[in-house]
Amino acid sequence: MKMHLINLTTVLTLLLIGSANADTIAVIGTGGVGSALGPKFAAAGHTVVYGSRSPDESEVQGLVSLTGHGATATTQAAAAKNADIILLAVPWAPAKTIVDGLGPLDGKIIIDPINAMAFGAEKSISLAATPSAAELIQGWAPKAHVVKAFNTLTRAYMVDPSAAGGPITIPLAGNDTDAKARVAALVEAVGLVPLDVGSLSQARAVEAMGQLYVAQGYQGRTRFEFHLRPR
Ligand SMILES: NC(=O)c1ccc[n+]([C@@H]2O[C@H](COP(=O)([O-])OP(=O)(O)OC[C@H]3O[C@@H](n4cnc5c(N)ncnc54)[C@H](OP(=O)(O)O)[C@@H]3O)[C@@H](O)[C@H]2O)c1
Repeated sequence: MKMHLINLTTVLTLLLIGSANADTIAVIGTGGVGSALGPKFAAAGHTVVYGSRSPDESEVQGLVSLTGHGATATTQAAAAKNADIILLAVPWAPAKTIVDGLGPLDGKIIIDPINAMAFGAEKSISLAATPSAAELIQGWAPKAHVVKAFNTLTRAYMVDPSAAGGPITIPLAGNDTDAKARVAALVEAVGLVPLDVGSLSQARAVEAMGQLYVAQGYQGRTRFEFHLRPR
């Protein structure tokens, strides 16, 4: 009987620890990145709420079913309302309108995977957000904690990091240490390797890494994955 009580206590403690680490994550956008990371976040024990322009459409509902683990889909603002963490998996062009429409974001973590790029003549690519998309987003939501992450790899390796044939580093830039630690835990949970590269102003460098990564394939050179080896 005593043994059973100890086991029950252990189980309850583990459940409490588990729930303390479980976040509600609003995945805004159900395209390439949202549909890659949403299911992984849910499988890692988080509550995923997709924020979509068309939450009732069959494609979005299919993603909800695929994600499982109690995932749901609703409007962008409703998803953000109860979220601890928001993954802003949307194109750069509508990003400000989308962030403005999400409602109060104070204290929430915003993960920014956006590559804001302009494609010019002769396959030229330039960065389209100055000084960086992440810093502009922080300006639109000053009391949120923006963390730049997940912009330096293709969605295929978000879905299956092992397909890359080796570790992939995810550089994290942000001003809030706790927010970066929580995003680092998410990165690890999906099978990628987080590396804190400093404050949000370092997003300028991380976005340039994204530009290099995209240009490499777009301009026909050898493709690679970023693996930064800590020393
Ligand atoms: N694809 C990659 O491999 C990859 C890798 C790293 C970073 N990124 C970056 O991550 C962000 C998302 O990329 P993605 O590949 O997921 O893009 P995507 O496939 O084009 O999907 C973006 C999603 O954003 C939502 N959205 C909301 N308002 C929109 C609007 N006005 N126009 C278009 N979509 C709108 C849509 O979801 P709803 O229809 O549900 O609203 C759409 O499916 C981009 O900024 C991209 O640069 C992409």
